[in-house]
Amino acid sequence: MKPNRRKFLQTLAIGSSAMAIGLPGFSKDPGAEEELMDHYAGTAPKFNMCGYAAPKIDKVRIGFIGLGMRGPGAVGRMSFIEGVEIKALCDKLPERATAAQKILEKKGLPKAKEYSGENGWKEMIEKEDLDLIYICSPWHLHTPMAVYAMEHGKHAATEVPAALTLEDCWKLVETSEKTRKHCMMLENCCYDFFEMLTLNMVRQGMFGELIHAEGAYIHDLLGLNFNKKGYESMWRLKENIDFNGNLYPTHGLGPIAQCMNINRGDKMDYLVSVSTNDFMMGNEAKERAKTDPFYNEFVGRNYRGNMNTTTIRTSKGKTLMLQHDVTSPRPYSRIHLLSGTKGFASKWPDPERITFGEEWLKPDELKKLYDTHTPPLIKHVGEIAKKVGGHGGMDFMMDWRLIDCLRNGLPLDQDVYDAAAWSCIVPLSKKSVSKRSGSVDIPDFTRGGWTSNKPVDLTLDGGGNTTVRSVK
Ligand SMILES: NC(=O)c1ccc[n+]([C@@H]2O[C@H](COP(=O)([O-])OP(=O)(O)OC[C@H]3O[C@@H](n4cnc5c(N)ncnc54)[C@H](O)[C@@H]3O)[C@@H](O)[C@H]2O)c1
Repeated sequence: MKPNRRKFLQTLAIGSSAMAIGLPGFSKDPGAEEELMDHYAGTAPKFNMCGYAAPKIDKVRIGFIGLGMRGPGAVGRMSFIEGVEIKALCDKLPERATAAQKILEKKGLPKAKEYSGENGWKEMIEKEDLDLIYICSPWHLHTPMAVYAMEHGKHAATEVPAALTLEDCWKLVETSEKTRKHCMMLENCCYDFFEMLTLNMVRQGMFGELIHAEGAYIHDLLGLNFNKKGYESMWRLKENIDFNGNLYPTHGLGPIAQCMNINRGDKMDYLVSVSTNDFMMGNEAKERAKTDPFYNEFVGRNYRGNMNTTTIRTSKGKTLMLQHDVTSPRPYSRIHLLSGTKGFASKWPDPERITFGEEWLKPDELKKLYDTHTPPLIKHVGEIAKKVGGHGGMDFMMDWRLIDCLRNGLPLDQDVYDAAAWSCIVPLSKKSVSKRSGSVDIPDFTRGGWTSNKPVDLTLDGGGNTTVRSVK
């Protein structure tokens, strides 16, 4: 056996045993990652999940995993949708599953079964008759939970990012293809109003050929990451240690990747990534440790560089730029910039702007575009979504669309290839940074499917009949 081949097989073995006990299966060895890419690139897909329509499900029975800051909001949103049954609630901490029960109680909905403990999610997946597992756990658990769900005949919807390693990206792809179960990453930012407007405008050719796009996750989470009562066991701060790259690429990338038809006409080819040093987190830990010895464990650690900038080139010669900064004291931004041969759009810094020449459209002209080019999905549920809430409504539009597609047997807007491609920026940006920003190939998770896969459907054709309980 060639030494590389042996190393690759060892890595896979380590990965799967780590998964079996619910630990992150990090591939530490960059050589093994290359082997992994070569291995899968040379194999045929088992089935093409892009455009896949699963059998219709009249009542979508959901089990939720992870009921911390994010999960209960999802339970609340889903409780507005007719055609949904919330059957099971699971969190490592039993009191969190019990607390989420109140959301159902308030709406007069039947009680859900509660699961808890480190491995309660496995028991829930094994025992309950569920159609969809909705995952809001810490990042390293997304892939094992989604894979387990699919292997047990359930569709999986996971919070972002879907995976932290290339190995896990491929595991998701392989499992979804093998089981023919959907694996959707819950990239809610794809459903925001301006993002949807510009996606529809791109589709109508209003920006001409897109040449370049930019996205970001710039959000000052320094205080929350260092708050003992924030993320459970401070998992999110810990992810920032010994990792140097873009840890959270998908909010910025998802919407621009859809505009660029990534995996559906074009694909990401390679990237280069550069990070600053850390000027924030180490100091924050030191400052806090002066008055609270609890923080000593966070002093002198190898923190992620604060600003990461990653540039991606596509196979058709376009570029995407992504930034990640969750420590600097500056306003929130996902940028969402599109630059084409005929027009330009940008969302952040505020205000939203569009131009087809040198001058920005005036507010009334922009409003007219919203009236004429907002896609049917947003027209259909946008107003209700604003009332239900969740990041201004985009979370509900995503949830409603997911359920409407499952109920009507329609392909989902985001498939497993999107989940894998958008998430793989996490390990690949790290790899590029570690190679002095050397270029790194991005795998084709569609294994050739990108040349003929259809763009995301912006109509409501075949669906739109999922009703919403009255919203005050
Ligand atoms: N899309 C968005 O806009 C958005 C916004 C916020 C958070 N998120 C994502 O949501 C996820 C959760 O984030 P959060 O802010 O709720 O974090 P959190 O720490 O508040 O919640 C995570 C929950 O998972 C539970 N958990 C941990 N291990 C578990 C296990 N083995 N079994 C069952 N439950 C377990 C924890 O007890 C906790 O309640 C993350 O992936 C985050 O990136 C997405």
